[in-house]
Amino acid sequence: MGFIHVTDRAGKRHELEAVEGWRVMEILRDHGVGMEGICGGACACATCHVVIDETWADRLHPPRDEEIDKLDELPLLHDGSRLSCQIIWGPDLDGLSLTIADD
Ligand code: FES
Repeated sequence: MGFIHVTDRAGKRHELEAVEGWRVMEILRDHGVGMEGICGGACACATCHVVIDETWADRLHPPRDEEIDKLDELPLLHDGSRLSCQIIWGPDLDGLSLTIADD
């Protein structure tokens, strides 16, 4: 067991219990912190857009071309922008810190 630290769109911090093997999008959605994940993780909607904290950005696997293409369709990107459905949570990501991006 481990945790993800999330800042929601209202600026409120949450510590969410994470589940190994789950997509980060699924963890955010199940905790009801304002993550939609409309396409269910098919990399087709970008409603799971998050901004990974600077200290964690280099510790994630790099995005695949499919994720990069979908991110490029968003009107506003940030350093650390990722699609949370493309990140599988495991113990190596215990303490992962991120912000849910604005719509
Ligand atoms: S849930 Fe649709 S792109 Fe991530």
